[in-house]
Formats: sequence, C-alpha cells, structure tokens
Amino acid sequence: MNNQTSDRMSFSIPGGLEAEIDELITHYPQKPSASLMLLHALQDHFGYISKEAMEWTAAKLELQPINIYELVTFYPMFRQQPAGKYQFKVCRTLSCALGGSHKLHEHLCEKFGLDSDAHGVQTTKDGKFSVEFVECLAGCGTAPVMMVNEDFYEGVTNGKADDLVTKCK
Ligand code: FES
Repeated sequence: MNNQTSDRMSFSIPGGLEAEIDELITHYPQKPSASLMLLHALQDHFGYISKEAMEWTAAKLELQPINIYELVTFYPMFRQQPAGKYQFKVCRTLSCALGGSHKLHEHLCEKFGLDSDAHGVQTTKDGKFSVEFVECLAGCGTAPVMMVNEDFYEGVTNGKADDLVTKCK
C-alpha cells in the first residue's frame, strides 16, 4: 500500500455526512460536476479542506487528486487550514478596493499581528481571529464591505472594525 492510499484510508467522515454527499452527487449528470458542492460540504463540516479530504474527494468522484487540488487553490472561499473562531472576511473586489478595503485589511492584520501582504486566510496563534480577503460580497454600493463569521457589515471604517473586534473579545 502506498502512502497516498494509506492517507486516504485514514481519513473518514461521519456516515450521515457521507450519505448526504452521496445524495448530492445524484443531482449531477456526471460525478465531477459535484466537486464544488462536495468541497463546500466538507469545509462546512471540518472547517477547512485537508490534503486527505482532497484525496478522499477525488476518489469519491473518480478524479485525480490534482483535479481537486486545483479547485481548492483556485477558489478563495476554500481554506486549507482551520480558521479562527471569529473570521474576518474583507472584500477585495473593485468597488471595495477603491473604497479602502486594502487599508482595512492592513489595519486588521496589524491589529492581530498578521502579515498584511498575505491575501489568504491567516489565523492568530491563539486560534481566535482569522483575516482573509474574499471576492465580491454583493454590497458594492456601500464599500468597503466585510463579514465577521455570518454577519455582514457595510461602510467599514477602521474604527468600526475595532468596535467589531472588541465585541468578539
Ligand atoms: S465589490 Fe465589495 S461587495 Fe462588491
């Protein structure tokens, strides 16, 4: 047995989730078309997508692991590491970029001691806060826009961001 096979076999998901995934696959004419939905389901459950989860997904959909790896690395909504308890997602698409989202991202990174040049998810050492850039959150008229976990905030100034951080503490 090679290492890849043994990693895949050591990764397991709860029976209920696997049944949900099997059902989800039936909604698509071809198994590979279910890739994104399946990755969302795994990320919702585990909080991120591990290498083992990518290999499991590939085997499930009769694909090569590289096919799944390409999706996970292409789409910014997928994470390869666990995120913090409070996830700050700053929109970086055009309206928000023009409205100051890069300054907002920089402010949050500096506040949390993270690298403001990194666009992917970064998490504080205590696992409490994550900051990441994401694409358009559909609030372009009130830039810059940010989400904290599932809550949506518009016209976020640095001061407003500080208040949100304080509320999380
Ligand atoms: S560009 Fe930021 S919400 Fe659309």
